[in-house]
Amino acid sequence: MIGMDDKVDLDHMGAVMALPPAPLVLVGVADREWKERNIITVGMFNVFSVRPPIIGIGVTTARYSYKLLEENDEFTVNIPGKDLLDKVIACGERSGAETDKFKLAGLTPVKGKRTKAPRIAECLMNIEVKRTQSFEVGDHTWYLGEIKHTDIVQGYDRSQALLYRDGEFWTADRPLRSLRPE
Ligand SMILES: Cc1cc2nc3c(=O)[nH]c(=O)nc-3n(C[C@H](O)[C@H](O)[C@H](O)COP(=O)(O)O)c2cc1C
Repeated sequence: MIGMDDKVDLDHMGAVMALPPAPLVLVGVADREWKERNIITVGMFNVFSVRPPIIGIGVTTARYSYKLLEENDEFTVNIPGKDLLDKVIACGERSGAETDKFKLAGLTPVKGKRTKAPRIAECLMNIEVKRTQSFEVGDHTWYLGEIKHTDIVQGYDRSQALLYRDGEFWTADRPLRSLRPE
């Protein structure tokens, strides 16, 4: 068993970077006229409420997607499988200000069922979100919203989803234990 004597000091940024990896998502955003569509890779993702289901993404003002998120209160959170890793990295390195990332990455935009935001066909899950609130925290603006509709691939396997922290891409292996009734 670990005790305090086994530990050393760590700087504050190091503490953030040492945290376990968390879900990595592709966010779909568009303007109201569906003229400008974009994808942004986002590691700052969280579940904020279960009932009602509210999820949120953190985006900095420097991103082209920030402009679209300010303009349109609907967006999609898409869960890429590990097979999409190269495309996920491309969407996290290139800006929609200079390139159509759907074309660049070879990903297919599909209009939402309940929102006007683009879903990404090739992802395992597509969650349509309607913004309920947004607020600034330090260097990110958080956009929180209610889930309006979700599509999930048949036979969905959570271990195929991508996790990320501090430059490392992960997948979850398998559950150690389940608290769900058999
Ligand atoms: C693995 C990874 C995770 C990222 N997470 C975030 C994030 O949570 N928030 C954010 O604003 N940018 C994040 N980025 C950076 C944006 O995806 C990147 O700057 C992108 O080019 C912005 O695109 P845009 O200008 O088209 O909006 C991440 C990039 C990578 C590669």
